[in-house]
Amino acid sequence: MEQQLKEWMEQLTLEEKAALTVGGDFWHTRSIERLGIPSISLNDGPHGIRKPKAGTDVGFDSLPATCFPTASALASSWSVELLESVGQAIGDECLALDVQVLLGPGVNIKRSPRGGRNFEYYSEDPVLAGEMGAAFVRGVQSRGIGTSLKHFACNNQEHERMTISSEVDERTLREIYLTAFERVIKQSQPMTVMAAYNKVNGIYATEHRELLEQVLREEWGFTGFVVSDWGAVNDKAASLRAGMDLQMPGRDEETVQRLADMVRNGEFPETVLNQSVERILRIVLATMRNRKPGASFDAEAHHAVARQVAAECFVLLKNEGGLLPLQPDKLRSVSVIGQFAKQPRYQGSGSSQIEPTRVDTAIEQLKKSLGDQVTVSYADGYPGEDRVDEELLNEAAQQAAEADVAVIFAGLPPSFESEGFDRRNIDMPASHNRLIEEVCRVQPNTVVVLSNGSAVAMPWIQGPKAVLEGWLGGQASGAAAADVLLGAVNPSGKLSETFPMRLEDAPDFLNFPGEEGKVRYGEGLYVGYRYYDKKRIEPLFPFGYGLSYTTFELTGMDVNRHHMTDRDTLEVKVCVRNTGARPGSEVVQLYVQDTESRMARPIKELKAFAKVSLQPGEEKEVTLVLQARDFAYYDSERSTWCVESGEFVILAGTSSADLPLRASVMMESTQKVQARFHAMSLFKDVLKRYTAAEALQMLADPSTGGGAPAGLYKDEFLITFMMDMPIGKIAKMMGNIQSEQAIADWISKLNGEA
Ligand code: BGC
Repeated sequence: MEQQLKEWMEQLTLEEKAALTVGGDFWHTRSIERLGIPSISLNDGPHGIRKPKAGTDVGFDSLPATCFPTASALASSWSVELLESVGQAIGDECLALDVQVLLGPGVNIKRSPRGGRNFEYYSEDPVLAGEMGAAFVRGVQSRGIGTSLKHFACNNQEHERMTISSEVDERTLREIYLTAFERVIKQSQPMTVMAAYNKVNGIYATEHRELLEQVLREEWGFTGFVVSDWGAVNDKAASLRAGMDLQMPGRDEETVQRLADMVRNGEFPETVLNQSVERILRIVLATMRNRKPGASFDAEAHHAVARQVAAECFVLLKNEGGLLPLQPDKLRSVSVIGQFAKQPRYQGSGSSQIEPTRVDTAIEQLKKSLGDQVTVSYADGYPGEDRVDEELLNEAAQQAAEADVAVIFAGLPPSFESEGFDRRNIDMPASHNRLIEEVCRVQPNTVVVLSNGSAVAMPWIQGPKAVLEGWLGGQASGAAAADVLLGAVNPSGKLSETFPMRLEDAPDFLNFPGEEGKVRYGEGLYVGYRYYDKKRIEPLFPFGYGLSYTTFELTGMDVNRHHMTDRDTLEVKVCVRNTGARPGSEVVQLYVQDTESRMARPIKELKAFAKVSLQPGEEKEVTLVLQARDFAYYDSERSTWCVESGEFVILAGTSSADLPLRASVMMESTQKVQARFHAMSLFKDVLKRYTAAEALQMLADPSTGGGAPAGLYKDEFLITFMMDMPIGKIAKMMGNIQSEQAIADWISKLNGEA
C-alpha cells in the first residue's frame, strides 16, 4: 500500500493534489483516472445507510436499507455486543450498496434535553457514549468499511449550529465532551473523524489545530483522515493547516484552483497539502481493497436483526401490579390507541433519515400475536397534526373503557425533534398528553408505549399502570413493541439519559441555546446525572434506570485490593442473581466517588458496566476493571490527568439512583500532583501542605532580621483572613519583607527546593 501511495504522490500534479482534498460531488471523493485513483463513497449514517439513488444528490430518495434503532435507543441497551452486531449488519449493507465510509457514529454528549439531534447521540455520559461508539465502529470496520466519528467537537445543539461558539472550560471539555471521542479513537481507530460545524471557544472546529492535531492525532493516536461536516469549511487554507483533510461536499473548483495557486506562489506549504492527500489516499486504498462487487444483503434477515435489536432497547419505566407482560389467555379484548400504532415514528429527520426496506406496525403484530381469541380494537386518538381533537379523544376513551386493557402509542411527532432545530421544550404534544389522561380516567389497565428520540415530560405519569420507552426503534419497532408487550422479550433497557421532571430542572436551563453567537457551558462538568446528583434534584426517571419482568439481586461486592496506587488496576466483582420467574438481563453499573478532593468533583461518575443474561434462579459473577484514569480529574493548569491520593468509594447497582453496594479504596498517587508555588499562589493552597506555623516560620529576611511575627501563627482569625491572599503579598504586608530575593527564597523553601 505504501508503495502504491508513494508512486501516486510522485505522479500527482499540484492541481490534482489540491483537488483530492475537496470532494468530487456531494458524496464522493475525487477519482484521478489517469493514475487509476478511484473515488470512494461516504454516506450517512449512523443507524442505517442513506445512499441516494443514482442521479440524485440531496434529498431522501435513497436506496432501501435496514433502518435500525437510532443512537438513543441503541445506548439504552447498554450492550456493547448489540452495538457491535448492528455495526456488522450495517457494514454488510455498506458492502452491498458500495459505500466505503459510513458517516457515523455521533458521540456528542446530550448537554441539553432540548438538543434537536439528541436522537442521533448516545448519552449524557461520556463513558456510556464512548463504549457504545467504540463497539459500533468495531462492528462496521470489521467488514472493511470505514466510519466517521462525528461531530468533533462540542456540537451539542442545533441552534445556530454553523456559527455558534461553544464556550467550554478546558477541564469540562476533557472530562465530559472529549472523553467519548477519545475512547472510540483509542479502542477502535475509526478511519475518519468528522469536524463539526460550530466553533469551540471561538475557533471553528474545522480550523481547530489544537483539537485536530494536538489532541486527536498526537495525544490519542488517530491515524485516519478528518473530513469536514457538509459545508463546514470556511477557510480552506486555515482548515488544511489545522489538520482538516477532506472538504465536503465537493465540486468547489474555485477553492481547488486557489489552493493550487497559493502553493505555487509560496503562500501555502506543499508539505501540508501532501500530508492531507496521503491521509486521504491511505483510506481510499484500504477501503477499495475491501470492496465486494456484486455483494448483496439479506433484507429479511437484517429486518429480523432490527426487530431483536429494537426489543433490547426498550426501557420499562413503570409496571404497577405486574400489568405487563399482557397474557393473551387471560384477556378478551385489547384497545390499541394512537396513530403511532399504525404509522410508527421510528427514526429522526435530517441527514440520518433513510429509506427502510419495510416497516412493521404494532397494530398488525399485536393482532397476529394475540391470536383470534382476543378482540383488538383501534382508535386514532389524535390527529396527524399538533391539535387536540375532542371527537377522536371521545372515541378513544369509549373504546378503551370497553376493553380489558388499553395500549396507547404516543410520543413525539417528527416536527417536535429534528436535525436543524432544537426543541422548544420537553413536552409531548398536548393531544398526546390529553389522550393518555382521558383514557386513564376510564381504563385502569392502561399501558403507554412511547416513541421519541429524547427525554419527555410526563405530567400524566400517575395515570397508566405501565409505561414502556421504545425510543425511535427503527423499522421493526412496531413488531418489537408487540414482542415486549406480550413478554416474548423481557425488557432490559436502561435509560441512557436522565428524564427531568420539568424543563426548568435541566442542567443547561440557564445557558441554552446561548446569545450573541456564543453558548456558555455554564453548568461545567455537571451534565446529566452529575447535575441532578449535585443539586439534589429528583428527576422523573434517573440515568441508568429501567425495570424488568423479573427481579434481580446484587450481592457480594469484592475488590481485589483496598490500597492501590495509580499504577494498579482495581478488579471489582459483583454477583447478580435472577430472583424472579423469567429469564432476563440486568446491567451492573459501577460508579466512582472521590470522597475528598482539592477540586470540585461530581458526586459520582459511571466508569464501567456489564450486561448479564440470567435464567430464573441463576447467578453470575461480573468482574469490572478500573484503571487510574477512572479515578482522575483533568488538571488544566498542568494539562494532564491527575489522580489524587485519598479515599475513593466504588458504588455498584442497577441505576444511578440505586447503588446498594459499596467498597472503599485508599489511593496512593505516585503522581507529583503538587502545583509549584509562586508569588501569586494563595495562602490556603500552601496550608494544604504545611501548617500556618510551618509555612510562616520559613519566612525570614536574614539581611534585615524581618519575618512573620510569632503571634501571627497563632491568631486563627488572621490566618483565616489571609487564606485568599497571594503569598508574595503576605510576605510584604504581614511579614514586612521588602526584598524580592527574600520572598523568592521563601517560595523556594515552600516548594521544597531550598
Ligand atoms: C450533518 C452530518 C451529515 C452530513 C452529510 C450534515 O448536515 O451534520 O451529520 O453526515 O450532513 O449528510
